[in-house]
Amino acid sequence: MLEIKNLSVTYGSKVALTVPNLNINKGEIIGVMGESGSGKSTLVNSCLGLVRFKGQVTLETDNVGVLMQEQHYVDTMTNQKIIEGLLNTRIKRDDKLAELINFFDFGSQLSLHFKNLSGGQKQRMSLIMVLYQEPELLFLDEMTTGLDFESRQALINHLKVYFKQHQTTVIMVTHYAQEIEQLADKLLIIHDGQVMAFDKPKNLFNQYIGYSAFIVGNNAGNSISIHQPEEEYSVARQLIDNGDDFRRTQGDIELVYTAITKGQ
Ligand SMILES: Nc1ncnc2c1ncn2[C@@H]1O[C@H](COP(=O)(O)OP(=O)(O)O)[C@@H](O)[C@H]1O
Ligand SMILES: [Mg+2]
Repeated sequence: MLEIKNLSVTYGSKVALTVPNLNINKGEIIGVMGESGSGKSTLVNSCLGLVRFKGQVTLETDNVGVLMQEQHYVDTMTNQKIIEGLLNTRIKRDDKLAELINFFDFGSQLSLHFKNLSGGQKQRMSLIMVLYQEPELLFLDEMTTGLDFESRQALINHLKVYFKQHQTTVIMVTHYAQEIEQLADKLLIIHDGQVMAFDKPKNLFNQYIGYSAFIVGNNAGNSISIHQPEEEYSVARQLIDNGDDFRRTQGDIELVYTAITKGQ
């Protein structure tokens, strides 16, 4: 669905991103993580043809949707007028649109103005309009940054169902490991303009952490990796004897991310 070869993006004299090779298959959901300034948006913008780059980026479809962290719409109209105007349709006569509005619980926000919506409601309205075109390839760049936990969770739950039903290929940039855990088939980690890892989270966990890990004091920076199942018992015993708070994991993304980017 998306193929990148020898991509490099330079701003002035600074190389912001290089990607030797990346293939994303149809229907895959890719979670992209990386520090601020690492090149995540540059990757998205290259795929969308919004920045100049060297190399090849091939999209298998023209039907591409995009949603960024913030959107702006004219504020003289109600949300219903904005949606109907931009999509050139009427909710009453458009089952597909009515269904999306229903799916995202947006019905009671239609008569409001955009500026009076919460962050989560704003993103749901934008998603309704982006998904109306039934994109085959969808880019979400920090869609949930700044939203509170519950709004994020509601959005992710909706999207999980939607993506399953529609087989959408998704590239989702996010700060939240938990969103990757819930949605993504593969994790792409970008650090300082380089791809550090691209694989199924489970594979990355096994490769960089081990069989399992104990996170002590709920802090991903303080963890004990377990390489053989037989080691687990004695480590757990020790933690209990110390009176430490800990939890066991076999797939914590935060842990994987920290190990790969900080070289733990
Ligand atoms: N249009 C631009 N002109 C110059 N530098 C830019 C531009 N866009 C991004 N950069 C720089 O490129 C690097 C990567 O940016 P970006 O892809 O936006 O990072 P991220 O989305 O991971 O936060 C940063 O150092 C940023 O300052
Ligand atoms: Mg960005």
